[in-house]
Amino acid sequence: MNVTILTCMRRAQELKNSDSARLDVELLLAHIFDKDRSYLYTWPEKCLTEDQQEQFESLLGERLKGKPIAHLLGHREFWGLSFEVDASTLIPRPDTETLVEAALSLSLPIEAKVIDLGTGTGAIAMALASEKPSWHLLAVDHSQAAVNLAQRNQQRLQLSNVIVQSSDWFNDIEDSGYHLIVSNPPYIDKNDPHLAQGDVRFEPLTALVAEDEGLADIRHILHQGRQYLLPYGWLMLEHGYRQGAAVFQLFEEFGYQQVKTLQDFGYNDRVTMGQFVG
Ligand SMILES: C[S@@+](CC[C@H](N)C(=O)[O-])C[C@H]1O[C@@H](n2cnc3c(N)ncnc32)[C@H](O)[C@@H]1O
Repeated sequence: MNVTILTCMRRAQELKNSDSARLDVELLLAHIFDKDRSYLYTWPEKCLTEDQQEQFESLLGERLKGKPIAHLLGHREFWGLSFEVDASTLIPRPDTETLVEAALSLSLPIEAKVIDLGTGTGAIAMALASEKPSWHLLAVDHSQAAVNLAQRNQQRLQLSNVIVQSSDWFNDIEDSGYHLIVSNPPYIDKNDPHLAQGDVRFEPLTALVAEDEGLADIRHILHQGRQYLLPYGWLMLEHGYRQGAAVFQLFEEFGYQQVKTLQDFGYNDRVTMGQFVG
């Protein structure tokens, strides 16, 4: 029997554990044909070759086991840019675009110096660098595999205003005098039941989990960040949707001013920022 695009699309009903089953199958097929999704609707009767059928069965099988679509495709879009992803770090999330938007809305000098701590794929740093070619971005991660991944993304996206290097938070950052520090650090409590659900099961705990109910890395960054900021420099952190009040209080405890918490597209507290007057 001929296996067509349409018959494959109908296999979405097998993906009972996914809340985006139809989209998942479309993305897998578009990947196999190396076309965008509109191709599938234009040519529903097109037959898959034997190789394509094997590839489809293998990818669908992996998806049935819960493997994230981004890992199966090898990339994920963030801020309109395509990022290579792998198991070394977090798959970029749409919520993080709230932080990018907030950073871009600040009035910073043309040649602002900016750090992205825990850069992962490089999503935040590259998004900022693509919008502000004259900013100087330093993107760091403690995972060498994540640093390698972010470097590949930087080269593919041809963003010459980003330097990616390895560092355990600020430990290997040599200079100071930054206008802005941004970070989406690990902030999930180790007992959070979400860790056993969905895509996060395939992401490393070192990218997700922090001590002290998820606040340990946030506290560390707020504490150390003050030495790296210029007077009136900004620090901006992504956090969990229930951590808004606690993170706001930490910003104030560490002496930051003009503190505010911003909500993501789902109206959840997501980003808190403050200015270090010095
Ligand atoms: C939540 S992920 C965010 C990744 C990326 N910035 C994003 O928004 O998609 C946190 C990142 O922090 C990194 N990280 C964890 N502990 C770190 C540390 N001590 N120093 C530097 N990076 C760290 C992890 O490797 C991971 O890439």
